[in-house]
Amino acid sequence: MPTHFSYPPPALQDELKKTAETIVAPGKGILAVDETNEGIGKLLASVGLQNTENNRRRYRQLLFTTDDSLSDYVSATILFDETVYQKTEDGTPFMQVLKKKNIIPGIKLDKDVVPLFLSEDEITTQGLDDLAKRCAEYKKQGCRFAKWRCPLKIGEHTPSVQAIEDTAHVLARYASICQSEGLVPIVEPDVLLDGDHDIVRAQKVTEVALAALYKALNDHHVYLEGTLLKPNMVTPGQGYPKKSTPEQVAQATVTALLRGVPAAVPGIAFLSGGQSEEEATANLNAINRVNLKKPWALTFSYGRALQASVWKTWAGKDENVKRAQLELLKRAKANGLASRGSYDGILTSSAGDKSNFSKNHKY
Ligand code: 13P
Repeated sequence: MPTHFSYPPPALQDELKKTAETIVAPGKGILAVDETNEGIGKLLASVGLQNTENNRRRYRQLLFTTDDSLSDYVSATILFDETVYQKTEDGTPFMQVLKKKNIIPGIKLDKDVVPLFLSEDEITTQGLDDLAKRCAEYKKQGCRFAKWRCPLKIGEHTPSVQAIEDTAHVLARYASICQSEGLVPIVEPDVLLDGDHDIVRAQKVTEVALAALYKALNDHHVYLEGTLLKPNMVTPGQGYPKKSTPEQVAQATVTALLRGVPAAVPGIAFLSGGQSEEEATANLNAINRVNLKKPWALTFSYGRALQASVWKTWAGKDENVKRAQLELLKRAKANGLASRGSYDGILTSSAGDKSNFSKNHKY
């Protein structure tokens, strides 16, 4: 049986809790820019640029040098390893730029997916081996939180018990190691949009995955007040013939979360998962408006749904930087409002209702 020693020391608890609560402060959310070099390479190719370190740096510089008002809506940003060490044109480290803006840097820690042997064509994430050492290094560089994503596929016989248990265990080990090094773990069980299932199936799978996850976090003595959850919203699969309304998505999503996520967790920051920019905002807004109990902050941790218009407007050209930054501000503001349930639908964007879905999406 666990003993009374099974909690982090009080000072560490305080630090973790404070960081987690700051990230999900009212009206704020997370800008996810932790695309791997391969992931950002596809985006660079879409604007006719080569996947060089300098082009990746130029794009990230555009984001991080957006007007200071960005931090009215964005409390934190998730980085990829390379980004932690990159600088602006004038030699200022990105980490310094973010600190000055009051945006908390975090780090993607999973090292992508590999096949889960003898499963139903499912996957697992890797990166646990040297994790404590990597956490300590990122903490030294100024990161205060981390994220780790485990995708789960809905199919006729999936996710399997094997995949659900593996996801829960891997996320629990990751979370426990993060906390031991003073980083707030964002745990991300991502029930994918891929598939032709209906919303009821998506809800049930999400509930089962969350139940397994919080059992494992508890088994590993993870201090829940110092964690955040980054789940999928509950929607029908991409291939399902009929879309659900934001109100239906909100009802299914909050119901699933109420059944699986302890109220001790300070906040839930959704991934956008291939939804269009406007869908992701409208759904978040409805989630915050739905007439159900909501013991946690409910906000955004979007990648594609904050950046699609930025890429479209930038198009790889220096003369478009300012306009692209305005697009980022607009999406950040819309989602900040949605996280309070007060978005009125008028902040449209250039990539607007264009789907950001791609099959087996790689970050
Ligand atoms: P999307 O919002 O593009 O799904 O990205 C979320 C994510 O997990 C990146 O950190």
